[in-house]
Amino acid sequence: MKALSSTLGKAAGLLALVVAVIAAVLSYFEDPDPIKSISMSEDMKVLEENFRQQNRSCFILGASGETGRLLLQEMLERNLFSKITLIGRRPLTFEGKAYGNLVQEVVDFEKLDDYAAAFQGHDVGYCCLGTTRAKAGAEGFIRVDHDYVLKSAELAKAGGCAQFHLESSRGADKNSNFLYLKVKGQVEADIEALAFDRFAIYRPGVLLVDRQESRPSEWLARKFFSVLSPVCPSMSISIQEVAKAMVSNTLLQPNHKTEILENKDISNLGKGAGK
Ligand SMILES: NC(=O)c1ccc[n+]([C@@H]2O[C@H](COP(=O)([O-])OP(=O)(O)OC[C@H]3O[C@@H](n4cnc5c(N)ncnc54)[C@H](OP(=O)(O)O)[C@@H]3O)[C@@H](O)[C@H]2O)c1
Repeated sequence: MKALSSTLGKAAGLLALVVAVIAAVLSYFEDPDPIKSISMSEDMKVLEENFRQQNRSCFILGASGETGRLLLQEMLERNLFSKITLIGRRPLTFEGKAYGNLVQEVVDFEKLDDYAAAFQGHDVGYCCLGTTRAKAGAEGFIRVDHDYVLKSAELAKAGGCAQFHLESSRGADKNSNFLYLKVKGQVEADIEALAFDRFAIYRPGVLLVDRQESRPSEWLARKFFSVLSPVCPSMSISIQEVAKAMVSNTLLQPNHKTEILENKDISNLGKGAGK
């Protein structure tokens, strides 16, 4: 009996320790300085109508990806742009009338200067481009997530684009010791230096998505964070919310030329984006 209660005591102690460690880790990863909640008091419908009347055009990089696909869908549903151009490495096939007016530019990202024309004449640029170290190796990851993204932003700026909206990542920091966060932070800083009239950086946590492609570590993280998301909403987010937030934020007036939307900000905006 004594042995049983001692074992139970040890188990309870161990459980308490695990809970304490998880709580400590989570509080460490909490947004250090959550940006003030974005006011949703504006009437989205009115903002959408005003925006529509401006006949703006945009381009999307990464529209074949998980977030980019939903971003495109959201834009089409809300009918905000008079012209949408998809810039990617391969042509995409869409079914349905809604996709009829899309323009597609297929480019070689290794020779982007040869495709400068594809980046000309857009008002707003959206970037959901990215790969992983596991897929492309460290150099390949830097090439895509930094070099391709920065070069695209440069060409867009030179082509008259006023706004750039970048899907980056939670924890992006050019001084980080982690390659992923460092590259994300570096590309943010380099694009900021281009001085767009408006530069919006979205820093989502783990993306909650049923990805077709197999990414075991991301799958594990997703399972873990989808269980935790009700108690710790700043760690993960659905791609639907990210896409909605990117579109809704475009309609709002920023307080600064460069805005950083942390996971909670994206979630507030993504959840509040009514149609
Ligand atoms: N996964 C997460 O939990 C997480 C969390 C925070 C932030 N993010 C970031 O959010 C962004 C979007 O993520 P996602 O999961 O929605 O993206 P995704 O599904 O992996 O799609 C990536 C896009 O980038 C394109 N791409 C990849 N490698 C390329 C290459 N070598 N040349 C040209 N295009 C290339 C893909 O084109 P193809 O279809 O032709 O391959 C696709 O359109 C990424 O920057 C990612 O780092 C991800």
